[in-house]
Amino acid sequence: MTGTNKAIVVVSRNQGKIREFKRIFSDYVPDVNWRFLSAADLELPEIEETGSTFAENARIKALAGTRYSELICLGEDSGLEVDKLGGAPGVSSHRFSETGLDDDNNKLLLELLDGVPWEQRTCRYKCAIALADSRGIIAQSTGSVEGVIHSELRGTNGFGYDPLFYALEIGKTFGEASDSEKDEISHRRRAVQGLVPLIRRIL
Ligand code: IMP
Repeated sequence: MTGTNKAIVVVSRNQGKIREFKRIFSDYVPDVNWRFLSAADLELPEIEETGSTFAENARIKALAGTRYSELICLGEDSGLEVDKLGGAPGVSSHRFSETGLDDDNNKLLLELLDGVPWEQRTCRYKCAIALADSRGIIAQSTGSVEGVIHSELRGTNGFGYDPLFYALEIGKTFGEASDSEKDEISHRRRAVQGLVPLIRRIL
């Protein structure tokens, strides 16, 4: 690939995600010039996440970014699915509680699962990513990681639901995991992993 001067814009305003994408992409696809811009940077109106699936929302974000910037754009949507709650918060993960603040979202999740035994607190993080250029969507991928909602907040690393997300593969919450431990198995890493061969073909 001769991608050294190819730029891909990651459209997101979530700093937690951007930190993770920077680490993952610099590890996996260092020869692409990744740029991280919010909707405001691209002078886009706020992108409405109107999709009913992570994949649909990822496509909406990628297409909106490309339409306004005329650059290759990567859109991402992710969230937490809790089995006992019928898959909620799902695509509404960032606005689960009234305020949408991480602390309030976690508090609400603990309240809803109060008294629910460990074996019924199963959940997963899911991530969908989509890449768009002037032709439309050119590549898509998804990733997931299985876990259990802990009965108390553990650790301060990561963001969002990480202090409650006990990752079965490492036996600790993502709040307790180091960056590299999370990156190794995260839903975001797995989605990027699936996209790498497609990026190589495209650029
Ligand atoms: P989005 O920015 O609309 O995709 O919102 C995704 C929401 O899902 C975030 O605000 C978090 O609440 C949650 N989420 C997604 N991925 C993660 C993660 O890796 N750790 C913690 N929370 C996550």
